[in-house]
Amino acid sequence: MKKFRKLSFIMLLSMVFILSACGTSQVDGGKSGGEEKKTLKVVTDAAYAPFEYMDKGEIVGFDVDFIEAVAKEAGYELEIVNVGWDPVFVEVKDKIADVGISAITINDDRKQTYDFSVPYFLSTNKILVPEGSDIKSAADLKGKVVAVQNGTTGQEAVEALLGKNNKDIKKFENNNLAIMELNSGGADAVVADNTVVEEYAKNNPNDKLVVVEDANAFESEYYGLMFAKESPLKAEFDAAINKVFENGTYAKIYKEWFGSEPDVENLKAQQ
Ligand code: ARG
Repeated sequence: MKKFRKLSFIMLLSMVFILSACGTSQVDGGKSGGEEKKTLKVVTDAAYAPFEYMDKGEIVGFDVDFIEAVAKEAGYELEIVNVGWDPVFVEVKDKIADVGISAITINDDRKQTYDFSVPYFLSTNKILVPEGSDIKSAADLKGKVVAVQNGTTGQEAVEALLGKNNKDIKKFENNNLAIMELNSGGADAVVADNTVVEEYAKNNPNDKLVVVEDANAFESEYYGLMFAKESPLKAEFDAAINKVFENGTYAKIYKEWFGSEPDVENLKAQQ
C-alpha cells in the first residue's frame, strides 16, 4: 500500500512536470506567442512499417517521431490520423488535412498537384521474394506475378518493366496486403521501398523472404511532407526540418529506428 502511494505520488509529480513542460513550450513556441498552439491534422497510411504502422492501437514509426519533432520546432500540435494511402492524397488536396506523411516520394507527377517539404529520407525500390527464388534482378520480373501497393512508385517501377496494363501486376490498397499475397503464393515478388521490405524480411524470419536489389533499374527517391499547393506551412516546416537536421534531433530519431547514422549532408544537398 505504502509502495503504491509512493508510486502514485511519483506519477502525480511527473504529470505536473509534463503539464508544466507543455505550458512553457506553449509560451516559447515561436509561432503561438503564448496562445494555444494550433493543432494540424496530419494524415497517413499506417501500414508501412517502420515508417508508419499500428502498434497496440497507436500510430507509430519513424515518420511519426520525425513529424512530431518538426512540428514542435514549428510550434504546432498534431493530430495524426490513419486514413489509408489514397485518402492521404485526397484529403491533402481538398484541404481536409493540413499535411500528409506516409513515406511519400517527391516526384514531378505529384509536384503538379502538391507542394512538398525539403527531402527528409533517401529511399529506393527493392524486390521482396521467397528464399530460393530465381528472381535475381528487376529484369527477372518479366513473366512473373508482382504484387505492389496501388498508386506507389513501386507500381510505377514495375509498370515500366512489365508494361502498364500487364495483368501480372497485382495492385493492393496497402503494402501489407501485397506481402500477404506473396506469402500465400499468389505473387512471385513484391516491389516496395527498400527499408520496408528489408525490415519485413528481417523481422519475419518464418516467412523466409529475401530482398533483391537492382540499383540500375530503380532510382533514388526522396520522401517529403506533402501539403496543398501554396500552403504557407511549407516554408515553416522546411525551416523546422532544417533545425532538426542541424540540432541533432533528426540523427537521434534516425538512430533509434534504424540503428545507424543518417547522411544529413546528402539530404541537405538535395534542397
Ligand atoms: N515511397 C513510395 C511512394 O511514395 C511508397 C510509399 C507508401 N507509403 C505508405 N505509407 N504506404 O509511392
